Amino acid sequence: MPKGPIAEAQLDLFMLTVYVTGFIFIAVGGVYVYVIIKFRERPNDTRPLPTHGHGNPLIEIGLIGASILLLVIIAVPTLQAIWFTHDTPDDPESRMGAWYSGEELAEEEADNPLIIKVIGYQWWWAFEYPQLGITTANEMVIPAGKVVHLELRSVDVIHSFWLPKIAGKVDLIPGRMNSMWIQAGDNFIKWKEKQGLEGAATAGPAIDSPKLREQYATYLEEEIHDYYYGQCAEFCGESHARMLFRATVVDDDEFAEWVADERTGHATPDGKTWDDWYAAYAENPDLLVGDVNEGLKLFMGRAKCATCHVVKGNPRALGVAGPNLTNIGSRMSLAAGWLNHRNEDGSIDVELQYDNFFKWIKETEVVKPGNLMWKANGGGIGELVDEQGELALLTDDEVHLISLYLQSLK
Ligand code: CUA
Repeated sequence: MPKGPIAEAQLDLFMLTVYVTGFIFIAVGGVYVYVIIKFRERPNDTRPLPTHGHGNPLIEIGLIGASILLLVIIAVPTLQAIWFTHDTPDDPESRMGAWYSGEELAEEEADNPLIIKVIGYQWWWAFEYPQLGITTANEMVIPAGKVVHLELRSVDVIHSFWLPKIAGKVDLIPGRMNSMWIQAGDNFIKWKEKQGLEGAATAGPAIDSPKLREQYATYLEEEIHDYYYGQCAEFCGESHARMLFRATVVDDDEFAEWVADERTGHATPDGKTWDDWYAAYAENPDLLVGDVNEGLKLFMGRAKCATCHVVKGNPRALGVAGPNLTNIGSRMSLAAGWLNHRNEDGSIDVELQYDNFFKWIKETEVVKPGNLMWKANGGGIGELVDEQGELALLTDDEVHLISLYLQSLK
């Protein structure tokens, strides 16, 4: 089932094409079968060959006319759908000011819908929320029933954003920005229309009541709130098939909570201030004890993770070459959706999550061939060395500690 107006428009268009081409298939195939049976050669057949119909103006013009008609039947709704899916509508109830209850929204943004900048990398996705000052990777969170405007860019090769149940596909092309809009579920007006409420389309929000609003909220919660699967839909290199993403659709309050959480980021493992932690790290790192601290020390030090990854809150984890790791312990998958640790009920399978972190850090080249993290570890940029300065990959014990640290980021 399509979830939302874009996927619905696309499904309608697809079905229309199926009907038209199905009709052509049956008509042409029917004539073909009829002719084969009727004019087949029989034993001792002495009938003359049938006369050729070449040059019959009625048939020729009729066939040309029928072809044009069929193409027009497909073309008009196709063009309409192209415009519809391209132009982000101005839906009053989708304006940020109308639903976003979190803090620090710039005043001029109150009239805009939520904007997400989608950036494609080989082979993962960055999702930036410029109005809210947050960035996440591979798992986007969006509010149910609201128009969301997407700006699509790529830093390397062509990728394609495809979230099948909600919308798709639009390419991410290096050197230019494409845009599209998505909406998980119907807005209030459209929902009322589908409920068969007379005049809902023209009366708009005029037909309103707390009870209707409640029913609408129930519809969103039961049919739309979910965890959706997305996939890169344009071949982009050896790990193209492993470039997945997710979209979690939530209600307005959950969205505001998520934003606040992303904004705050993470404290140190033992409740010190980050200044104190770094002072201890520089002077006497043995004072920072416990597995999570050990993992963080490796993250900042020998493993060089912070060179490429941001962890919000940590003032020195500022690298932007790799995915933002803020709250990575709360995400349901790793390695751009390739390793899952989500239970059916939406909770996280903690043991599987640990295994996934371990596998990913230890053997990233096996999990995702060609990825840059492996190249960093394997002799390209930023080789890993041990205390003696010798080249040395992470030991299993070190991978274990980093995994525990990353699991704690939630
Ligand atoms: Cu990115 Cu295929």
